[in-house]
Amino acid sequence: MDGKWRCHWAWSCTLWCVLAYTVSEFTGKSIVMATGKNSMHHKQGRRKLDDVTGSICIDCGIAEGLDYTDDKTQIHYTSDAQFIGTGTSKSISHKFISDTPQRTFTNVRSFPEGKKNCYTLRHPEGRNTIYLIRASFMYGNYDDLNKLPQFDLYIGVNLWDTVMFENATHVVIKEILHVPSLDELYVCLLNTDKGTPFISALEVRHFDHSSYRTKSELLSLYRRFDIGSTTNEIVRYDKDVYDRMWYPYNLPDSTPLNTSFTVDSLNHTAYHLPSAVMKTAVRPTNENDSLEFEFDTGQPTSESYVYMHFAEIEVLNENECRAFDITLNGKLWAEYVTPTYLQSNTIDGNQSIRGSKLKFSMHKKPNSTHPPILNAMEIYIVKEFLHSPTNQDDVKAIIDIKSHYKLTSSVGKSWQGDPCAPSKYSWNGLNCSNNGYNPPTITALYLASSGLGGTIIASFLELKFLESLDLSNNSLTGPLPDFSQLQHLKALNLSGNRLSGEIPSLLKERSNNGSLLLSVDGNLDLCREGPCEEDKMNIAPLVAGILSVVVFFIVLGIVLNIIWRRRCNRKPASKQAVRLNEEVVLKTNNTQFTYSQISTITNNFDKMIGKGGCGIVYLGSLQDGTQVAVKMLLPKCPQGSQQFQTEAQLLMRVHHKNLASFVGYCNEVGHTGIIYEYMAYGNLEEYLSDTTHPAG
Ligand SMILES: *[C@@H]1O[C@H](CO)[C@@H](O)[C@H](O)[C@H]1NC(C)=O
Ligand SMILES: *[C@@H]1O[C@H](CO)[C@@H](O)[C@H](O)[C@H]1NC(C)=O
Ligand SMILES: *[C@@H]1O[C@H](CO)[C@@H](O)[C@H](O)[C@H]1NC(C)=O
Ligand SMILES: *[C@@H]1O[C@H](CO)[C@@H](O)[C@H](O)[C@H]1NC(C)=O
Ligand SMILES: *[C@@H]1O[C@H](CO)[C@@H](O)[C@H](O)[C@H]1NC(C)=O
Ligand SMILES: *[C@@H]1O[C@H](CO)[C@@H](O)[C@H](O)[C@H]1NC(C)=O
Ligand SMILES: *[C@@H]1O[C@H](CO)[C@@H](O)[C@H](O)[C@H]1NC(C)=O
Ligand SMILES: *[C@@H]1O[C@H](CO)[C@@H](O)[C@H](O)[C@H]1NC(C)=O
Ligand SMILES: *[C@@H]1O[C@H](CO)[C@@H](O)[C@H](O)[C@H]1NC(C)=O
Ligand SMILES: *[C@@H]1O[C@H](CO)[C@@H](O)[C@H](O)[C@H]1NC(C)=O
Repeated sequence: MDGKWRCHWAWSCTLWCVLAYTVSEFTGKSIVMATGKNSMHHKQGRRKLDDVTGSICIDCGIAEGLDYTDDKTQIHYTSDAQFIGTGTSKSISHKFISDTPQRTFTNVRSFPEGKKNCYTLRHPEGRNTIYLIRASFMYGNYDDLNKLPQFDLYIGVNLWDTVMFENATHVVIKEILHVPSLDELYVCLLNTDKGTPFISALEVRHFDHSSYRTKSELLSLYRRFDIGSTTNEIVRYDKDVYDRMWYPYNLPDSTPLNTSFTVDSLNHTAYHLPSAVMKTAVRPTNENDSLEFEFDTGQPTSESYVYMHFAEIEVLNENECRAFDITLNGKLWAEYVTPTYLQSNTIDGNQSIRGSKLKFSMHKKPNSTHPPILNAMEIYIVKEFLHSPTNQDDVKAIIDIKSHYKLTSSVGKSWQGDPCAPSKYSWNGLNCSNNGYNPPTITALYLASSGLGGTIIASFLELKFLESLDLSNNSLTGPLPDFSQLQHLKALNLSGNRLSGEIPSLLKERSNNGSLLLSVDGNLDLCREGPCEEDKMNIAPLVAGILSVVVFFIVLGIVLNIIWRRRCNRKPASKQAVRLNEEVVLKTNNTQFTYSQISTITNNFDKMIGKGGCGIVYLGSLQDGTQVAVKMLLPKCPQGSQQFQTEAQLLMRVHHKNLASFVGYCNEVGHTGIIYEYMAYGNLEEYLSDTTHPAG
């Protein structure tokens, strides 16, 4: 009794495996589609550090997974490994370690390979809000070449600035205010043939969206001053919750003022100005003079924005007042400014200033008892938006393709940042439209001999402007997607793959009438000329699925019948299996076939007699003339392979003269198949599901 129970259990388990295979075959198609669609989401998630809200703090070049809190700034830095896939980690020369202002400068990531290398940042707080992005560099002779490099820094597809050094310990810090309109932000280092680009640190800070409002999406920091500073030190986090860096500065002919009270102690403005900066200021040394100063940005065509921050830090009596006007380049810029006691107020002039010279004058009002003051100021230069990013649908599709096929060749390495822009630095293996007005689109994609495997994913059909696609000489399998959806497609080279199924009729039509140059040579499993067998799965996938289930329940019935009759004696059962195998061996010499043997048997898969979601059945004949049906598993059903073997083993064991005879199987990498004796009544499934057919 015990033996019988165990025997039942074993058979049920095998049956369930077979059923699982059947079900997966039935759902195979949708699984493939889902993988193609899901892969577009990047692993990188929302990052929030507990010390500075909405910020990203990256110490470039430190070991992957490493993070630390900087002693000086108390800022928590992490490794850059999850933001970039290229470049090498380097340490600066020991000689210069003591010259570094903070630990982030002791390691760099350097980019000896590729013209364009990009960090991909996802804005912690989403797009359409203001971020400060800061990139820091110190050469420190990290490459032992003693040669100061020069390279370009890009934000998205636009030039941010050129990075140049005066000496090995020169710390270059580039800051930009950016209102991103896309979800992903690229910070790219471009090799301009003047040395290898590198980077020390990359930081992102998030501002209240009502601060620093401009019409421009990109404002590059020119100057940020803590005026009248008493400490002569840079003020940043955690005195400034936004981690702006305020440099100490004193105006000519001015006298510093300070207060020991806190500015904005009760509430603060959208600018969230640090009290340490606001509690110091300057006034003209001669109280009747105006406060005057000027800057030259060096770029005559430049457009800039100025933000001046004021807070009264002197106690004024009731009959006293401080009121002044501000002119910029001789034009009234702000009128009747009266700072409030210990409360900050920002004046931004509400519009940009053209020209490189910025000459400020702050004039005391006639009835004012006190001279003008200035606590802090910032000057930003507008960065022109010369290039527009690639059509975002194209970007999404090509990034899906990149991540699905895990492109690692030299082509894949260049696939960073925006695909098409700037045009000189577009990705290898693709061509883009570039008419200067519309966003660029991908018009040609050349991925021949790039080691692509698996099916052709649907993302290729999302590249709507594609005129030429070359996927030749790869290991692509599965059916041909309907490329006729790509209206501009003029050339399609799929030769030298292992595609199967048939060529979509519209595609064939376009190829025949000469509007499309189609090449599908060397795809042995592809049905090139009609008529191809009807795709049963297309007609009634559900019916086929149910059919398979029914088939296996009948198999179970017969199996149980056999077991029952043999009283489940395990020893005799295995003998039976051996004997059955011997029968098969007698017939074919071997149950295991090579792929080339199967090719011979089926005359190069000449006649297809059935098709399911995961397998195609071909007609063949053995040397002795026995007609066989060869069911080949489609490689797009990788999870089927294991169960396919289970099915083969099951059939091997239940081989019975009343069942379609199992002849053998093929199990090579990429080629899995089962060979049955061909049933004159139809294929195995049809035969077994026909319950009225005499089965005994
Ligand atoms: C390096 O250059 C910076 C920036 O010009 C300068 O402040 C510093 O003094 C220089 N250091 C040396 C050692 O020359
Ligand atoms: C603040 O100002 C007072 C004069 O008002 C001056 O004596 C003092 O030294 C200043 N404090 C600092 C830290 O400079
Ligand atoms: C800040 O507080 C002062 C008084 O405490 C009030 O007059 C002022 O309107 C407040 N400002 C803001 C921006 O809430
Ligand atoms: C500033 O001007 C007022 C009136 O014009 C004068 O009384 C005062 O002495 C002047 N102060 C200085 C320091 O020149
Ligand atoms: C500032 O500019 C905006 C539009 O750019 C305008 O609506 C607003 O009135 C301006 N404010 C001042 C004070 O000029
Ligand atoms: C100064 O003059 C302005 C008008 O120009 C006036 O609005 C303001 O109240 C005056 N201030 C004092 C303290 O008299
Ligand atoms: C891309 O354009 C270049 C020059 O315009 C051309 O030589 C090349 O064949 C094109 N590549 C593809 C894949 O069409
Ligand atoms: C096909 O690709 C292989 C490497 O994947 C390469 O060796 C071979 O030269 C390529 N053939 C053609 C015709 O490009
Ligand atoms: C398709 O690609 C193959 C191999 O890369 C190449 O030999 C063949 O010339 C190409 N065919 C066309 C029509 O470009
Ligand atoms: C070729 O066939 C396609 C599909 O039927 C059709 O859209 C296209 O206009 C035809 N082109 C020519 C040149 O006949």
